[in-house]
Parts: sequence; structure tokens; C-alpha cells
Amino acid sequence: MSLPEWAPDGVDVTVPNAARVYDYGLGGYHNFAVDREFAEQLISAWPGILQVAHTNRAFLGRVVRWLAAQGVRQYLDIGSGIPTRGNVHEVVQAIDPQATVVYVDIDDVAVSHGQAILAGNARAVAIGGDLRHPARILGHERVRALIDLERPVAVLLVAVLHFLGDEDEPPRLVRELAAALAPGSYVAVSHFTAVDDLGLEHERITKLYDRTPTSVRTRTPQQVAEILGDLELVEPGIVPVTSWHPDPGEPVEDEQRSVLGAVARKPV
Ligand SMILES: C[S@@+](CC[C@H](N)C(=O)[O-])C[C@H]1O[C@@H](n2cnc3c(N)ncnc32)[C@H](O)[C@@H]1O
Repeated sequence: MSLPEWAPDGVDVTVPNAARVYDYGLGGYHNFAVDREFAEQLISAWPGILQVAHTNRAFLGRVVRWLAAQGVRQYLDIGSGIPTRGNVHEVVQAIDPQATVVYVDIDDVAVSHGQAILAGNARAVAIGGDLRHPARILGHERVRALIDLERPVAVLLVAVLHFLGDEDEPPRLVRELAAALAPGSYVAVSHFTAVDDLGLEHERITKLYDRTPTSVRTRTPQQVAEILGDLELVEPGIVPVTSWHPDPGEPVEDEQRSVLGAVARKPV
């Protein structure tokens, strides 16, 4: 089978992958037949999941605009995904062309496509990295070159923590990231949660994801709070993403309660 020119060397096209499945769900084309088939299975298990993906992406955009309004000019987007519409650098560099962004993802397609679209942008880069190893990300030469850890940084962990197991100790990972940040820095998260009264087949979704290299799990608002630890939640706290500083007229559907969002600040 011949691969498209954007496919990085060695990419495994026999196993569905979270980054490419999400790309397909958002209408992108950096995905393979195995990802599309998998996405269609997810959609038949939970038809609302496509809307949830768009809603999560809209949350990311509102968070970044809100952070930019607080004066944040440095962004470390971990689990950034395959670039699509409304990428962080597009949002923040429209506000301040000097703003810097480092995208980090474990997936080769996400990193190579990120590098391709950022060629020529001296203030944004995409690197390979694993959230389970914060010190390696923070010590990466491209991070060091673009992000001054003495000044406030926004670390974005949007729709990525639910790919980590409890054995990965997400609270410790966020603690290690936050420890390296200047006071006044922020950590933004979104996370899949079980909303039982909606009757969603969460177990079917999580079982399906077990076929990918990154299985998925739900967490409760309390568990998300534990992940954020001593960071101070900004208003309105840990809420469904559609309730986090919604834009006027933003549609709210029940399924969208299945993703929690929050922004927390390192005290000054
Ligand atoms: C659902 S996408 C979210 C993309 C983007 N943050 C957004 O919300 O639109 C999740 C991304 O997390 C990445 N990912 C999963 N586990 C990761 C890890 N341990 N370290 C870094 N990235 C990871 C996947 O490759 C995928 O691109």
C-alpha cells in the first residue's frame, strides 16, 4: 500500500490511533482507513461523540483567548493533536505576533504535520514528547529556546489526560510541570467524564479505545480536582466544557456534559 506524502516513516497504518481518529472526527484528512473505521465504530456506539469533539476544540479556543487576555504570551500545548482549525499559535499570534507556542505530541503524524505547517514560523514549533515524562519536555532544547520559565506560561492539557492511566499518576505529572512554572502561570485541562444519566455507553467507548496505543478512561470532577492539586481554579471551576466562559449563543447539548474543562493558576 502506498502512503500519502504526509505520512511519517514507519507509521503503523494497521492500528487506529487517537490523534488520527480525532482528526477524522474534526473533519481532517490526516488519517488512515483503520482510523476512519474505528471512528465510525465510536460514532455508532455514541452518535454524539462528533459534537463532543467539536465542543472540546471550541473550549480550547476560548481558553486560549481568555489566557491571552490575562497577558499570557507563552504556551506549551501537550497532547496538541494533529493541527486543524483554530490552532493555538493562530489564535495567540493574531493577538500578539511575538507570542510563542510549543506543541508536544506522542504521535508522529501530529508532530510531522505540525512541523510542516510551522516551517517559517520562528515563534512556534512542534516536537515529539510524552506527557508521562514532564522533565524531558521541559528540558527539550526547543522548549528552552521558545519558553522562558521565569515568566508565566500556559500549559494546555486538553483532551489528553484521559489517555493516561492512574498508574501514570496524573496528579504527580501536573505537580512536576507546575513546579517548573513561574508564579502566575496556568494549567488548562479538559477530560472525558461519565455522565450516567445520559445512558452513554462509556464502557463500550473505553473498550474500543483499548485497541489503540492509548486506552481511555473517564474521571470524576473530584479526580480532575486532584490532578490540579494546589493550583487555584479560576472561575467557574471544573465544569462541562460548554459552561466554561461560553460564547454567546453557543449550543449546549446533553452529551457535551461528558467533557469537563478547567483552568487553574499557580499562585503568585
Ligand atoms: C483527542 S486529541 C486532543 C488534541 C487537542 N489537545 C485538542 O483538544 O483539540 C489527544 C492527543 O493526545 C495525544 N497523546 C496521547 N497520549 C499522550 C502522551 N502520553 N503524551 C503526549 N501526547 C499524548 C494523542 O496523540 C492525541 O494527539
